[in-house]
Amino acid sequence: MKDIDWKNLEFAYIKTDKRYVSNFRDGAWDAGCLTNDNMVAMSESAGVLQYAQTIFEGLKAYRTADDRIVTFRPDLNAERMAESARRLAMPVFPEERFVDAVLQVIRANAEYVPPYGTGATLYIRPCMFATGPVIGVKPAGEFQFRIFCTPVGPYFKGGAYVKGGVKPKSIRVTDYDRAAPHGTGHIKAGLNYAMSLYPVHEAHELGFAENLYLDAATRTYVEETGGANCIFVTRDGKVVTPKSASILPSITRRSLIVVAREYLGLTVEERPVTLDEVRDMTECGLCGTAAVLSPVGRIHNHGEDIMLPSGMDEMGPVCQKLYDTLTGIQYGLIEGPKGWVREVEA
Ligand code: PLP
Ligand code: COI
Repeated sequence: MKDIDWKNLEFAYIKTDKRYVSNFRDGAWDAGCLTNDNMVAMSESAGVLQYAQTIFEGLKAYRTADDRIVTFRPDLNAERMAESARRLAMPVFPEERFVDAVLQVIRANAEYVPPYGTGATLYIRPCMFATGPVIGVKPAGEFQFRIFCTPVGPYFKGGAYVKGGVKPKSIRVTDYDRAAPHGTGHIKAGLNYAMSLYPVHEAHELGFAENLYLDAATRTYVEETGGANCIFVTRDGKVVTPKSASILPSITRRSLIVVAREYLGLTVEERPVTLDEVRDMTECGLCGTAAVLSPVGRIHNHGEDIMLPSGMDEMGPVCQKLYDTLTGIQYGLIEGPKGWVREVEA
């Protein structure tokens, strides 16, 4: 195991030993290989530099209590990346090769998978970008697919590891839009994050951890935050999660829905959720690979503070159960549905 202060890791980049690279040229992906080189050289006119033709994914590897290394539903990241590629006119990296490459990268960097119980994980970042030159606005002809990884701590600042993850956060309803109807909100394109940088910088300056985006067409419905989907709990204990064609189909959210229904026996509704209704919710959590399930205590909306009854000190009871069960599955303590947990053999 590498000599790293695992308990104090931030959500930041640390160069690890190996990464996987495959290049697309003349209409085909090459064989691909692991490499030590973390630098990328390309034309000044590369499609990624000029027109942001780039997509990515995020997933994690976990060390279990009995010292195995596992990862969580990489097939869904492969599938989502294929969707992202199609929407940005990029070649699809074959889904089976994606999963195989993820496993190769984890295996090659096994010494960076944090010890069980530290709250840290190995974050895996598959990405694909246009390396071929363009000057007219059109898809490039050459691309690179790359997977690197970095050990990470909690996504939200001030998130020293405590039972249940991080302390509840304050977020704000923002007047900026994240995604247009029929736009790119449902895929993981770099451009969705570039446009969120200024709004999130502003949110941080004002003391909010994230922006809560509303639907761009009517500004009535809750969509998601810059880097996570939302989950709410109603007064009668139902789990409600916004449904919209312009939010990212979070793998964590889809997994939590199964956990809520099949492990906890809760009723789950996936439907449009108005900002108005949020005033009556008892719990709110932000879910994603990086965020896991991070509780929200306060939602600021133009001079009004919506204080969730679960408060600013700890996670609400339903979110806590969801969190414990999902992370229990991810860390191998609870048996997950078939195919969710993939062991990385040494
Ligand atoms: N929503 C956005 C905008 C994200 O960037 C992410 C992170 O991947 C998520 C939601 C959560 O998705 P997942 O659970 O698949 O990581
Ligand atoms: C993830 O959760 O994997 C993400 O990509 C979110 C990102 C904003 C770090």
